[in-house]
Amino acid sequence: MAGVTFKGVAKKYGDVTVIPGFDLEIKDKEFMVLVGPSGCGKSTALRMIAGLEDVTAGQISIGDKVVNDLPPKDRDIAMVFQSYALYPHMTNRENMEFGLKIRKMPQPEIDRLVNEAAAILGISNLLDRKPKQLSGGQRQRVALGRAIVRKPAVFLFDEPLSNLDAKLRVSMRAEISKLQQRLQTTAVYVTHDQVEAMTMGHRIAVMKDGKLQQVGTPLELYEKPVNVFVAQFIGTPPMNFFPATLADGGTRIKAGTFSLPVPPFLRERVKGKESLKLQVGIRPENLVPLSRAARGETAPLTVEADILEPLGHEVILHGRAGEDVFVAKLDPHQVPALGAPVELLVELDGLHLFDAATEMRLG
Ligand SMILES: Nc1ncnc2c1ncn2[C@@H]1O[C@H](COP(=O)(O)OP(=O)(O)OP(=O)(O)O)[C@@H](O)[C@H]1O
Ligand SMILES: [Mg+2]
Repeated sequence: MAGVTFKGVAKKYGDVTVIPGFDLEIKDKEFMVLVGPSGCGKSTALRMIAGLEDVTAGQISIGDKVVNDLPPKDRDIAMVFQSYALYPHMTNRENMEFGLKIRKMPQPEIDRLVNEAAAILGISNLLDRKPKQLSGGQRQRVALGRAIVRKPAVFLFDEPLSNLDAKLRVSMRAEISKLQQRLQTTAVYVTHDQVEAMTMGHRIAVMKDGKLQQVGTPLELYEKPVNVFVAQFIGTPPMNFFPATLADGGTRIKAGTFSLPVPPFLRERVKGKESLKLQVGIRPENLVPLSRAARGETAPLTVEADILEPLGHEVILHGRAGEDVFVAKLDPHQVPALGAPVELLVELDGLHLFDAATEMRLG
């Protein structure tokens, strides 16, 4: 068992810097998710842990050992890929045995480990088939089995669920979480899907352009995103943003057609910032119809409903307030008429304020 540490890690391909400098400490037994848009360097970071890419500068440690110069096979890691990467000519059992045979483990021990892993994953009856005789979800289970029989110090996952259909993805998500909990093995999991990140990670590291934006628990990222990027990236539908300024001696926030009082928890943060250009962030669930607005202080906002998306338990409203477009989550029994003005309330304890120039959080 071991944690993983990045210390000032940089990666260049020729003159192109993909990761300028990366510091991250993944604790022993932690499930860490690296999340970010396509091309931000998630796989590169993971492949550097695995030793499939070398490190241009800095240090990567697994446990207390710097692994920069260790070949992949000596790093005590097991990786699971999006493409499964199973050998097509071997049976599933042979695929799962392969890494153990290379290590010259005695056959009875191999049998014990493979049978145990197959039982955990519910694939015992599939071991004599070849990978192409399995469904996508079953193949990914064999790939997971091949990883867990090795009993590595660290699991590395690179978008392992991307090739599965939506329903299977949800159930495999839970299975991988349970597996990690049961085995108590440190896991680094790469995805571009923020829902996957939120549901699986003990902590999440959000990346953009090779740079770490924020590391925290799912709730920390949701409630206190450090900048506009993280605020927009985490949460579905995404947070609404309105350009704004302070008014009335810093006591109100003026945003387009509406104006809100500065809530008490933000008063200190906006002191002396009267001339600053701001972005106000409001999550869709913090825009509520009158009768639901029981919690905290609120402020009214008159909007026009453009599109309604009924989802059963809730309705997503796409609307306009003057020039600004926004999204709200409504109770299905309180749906406004399309094109009509509706009054929504902003829950002020859910307000997020950002400096428009630096895009950093004010409070
Ligand atoms: N061998 C390479 N040579 C040059 N550039 C590369 C190489 N491999 C990756 N890159 C670049 O490095 C950047 C990061 O790539 P990486 O594969 O780590 O992104 P990612 O976050 O995993 O994206 P995705 O979500 O699409 O998988 C990209 O801009 C990519 O074009
Ligand atoms: Mg990738």
